[in-house]
Amino acid sequence: MPDGIPASQPPFDPLEGAQAGGLAGAIPFVYGHPDPDLLPVEKIITATERALRARGRLALQYGPEQGYGPLLDYLIGKVERDEGLSITRANIVLCAGAAQGLDTAARLFTCPGDVVLVEAPSYHEAIATLRDHPVKLKQVPMDDQGLVVEALAERLEALSQAGRRVAFLYTIPTFQNQAGITLTAERREALVELAAEQGLLLVEDDVYRDLCFEGQVPPSLYELAGGRGVIRLGSFSKILAAGLRLGWIIAKPEVIQRIVSCGLKGNEGGANPFVAHVVAAFCQEGWLEPHIAQLVARYRTRRDALLAALEQERPDGVRWTRPAGGFFVWLTLPEPLEAETVLATAAERGVLFAPGVHFFAEGGGHRNLRLPFSFLSEAQIAEGVRTLAEVIKEQGSRGARKQGSYEAQSSKVVV
Ligand SMILES: Cc1ncc(COP(=O)(O)O)c(C=O)c1O
Repeated sequence: MPDGIPASQPPFDPLEGAQAGGLAGAIPFVYGHPDPDLLPVEKIITATERALRARGRLALQYGPEQGYGPLLDYLIGKVERDEGLSITRANIVLCAGAAQGLDTAARLFTCPGDVVLVEAPSYHEAIATLRDHPVKLKQVPMDDQGLVVEALAERLEALSQAGRRVAFLYTIPTFQNQAGITLTAERREALVELAAEQGLLLVEDDVYRDLCFEGQVPPSLYELAGGRGVIRLGSFSKILAAGLRLGWIIAKPEVIQRIVSCGLKGNEGGANPFVAHVVAAFCQEGWLEPHIAQLVARYRTRRDALLAALEQERPDGVRWTRPAGGFFVWLTLPEPLEAETVLATAAERGVLFAPGVHFFAEGGGHRNLRLPFSFLSEAQIAEGVRTLAEVIKEQGSRGARKQGSYEAQSSKVVV
């Protein structure tokens, strides 16, 4: 399930109240899902009826490979309004969600044996999608300013020395899933410069851009690169409804042309034509912008609730990120705590979360855990953090005692 509980954890149904797997009443800090209460069901019904009444025969037929034109035009207007970014129809194609956009990029722009670089941590479903392709994944570290560009340069150099071809870097520069970090404007410039120098293709996953709680989102890599060497993925999943399975790809015309002319696009008749008609009707009514504003207000409140709860509990030695948008806060536990051990006890007390190990292509993350705030009420967030902090404190003091006795023992040996 996209951004659901990792497969190694028990099954859990987010909407049925945790009846599955004996986890009734659990607080699932697990789902990076939009809040179901904010899904605009009535408006989608109206938009569907309008689309069908106005253009039913077109909406229910195979569509053009590039996607439904009026929706493409709406998106062109949206990036112009929101970002001052000027693109034309030659720069955009619809896809069945950003997930399919990434799969398409991997299908069309990698060769067997290529390396694909990902951030550490990265979105685990993207890692899984890339692993479906005959490529080797390598990771590049992040710090609190996002991807470490010097580390990328070193990795590229080492791979080049080893004679490996790097097909692209998959990056989520804005409100990153998992870490909630946004790549700074300076780092974006440096990344784009390095990519241009090295001929490195960037696949920019930008699905959280609109969910900005404060300040301004830095320009996209696509914009900074003047469109060259960047494939940018967007989606209606986080700003309207994930079940629509509709997103878009922005890139330079040659790339769009390659995608539009690929076998799948011809075969399927464009990405979800019916849904594209419905979404176009929704957007043309002027409903998307106020809907996004409502989402931002709700998710900001939840982010604030999570940060306030962490601030109040202040589990010893724990560090956490303070996202300016998106769905996720990323915790780092102090030594010698491990997220999976914390999870085992927290789950017994009804709090679930995804430990960091699931989010690294080449290992790491044992001391990390991810707390999404989009899906839980403020009350659940406060209670969940209280329990989590309690477990961390208990395990921390036990670990400290163990470490203390180990130190005492080893110092005895030394003496
Ligand atoms: C970073 C990122 N990219 C892509 C997706 C999936 O997007 P879509 O539903 O458009 O396929 C998600 C969903 O959680 C995500 O977090």
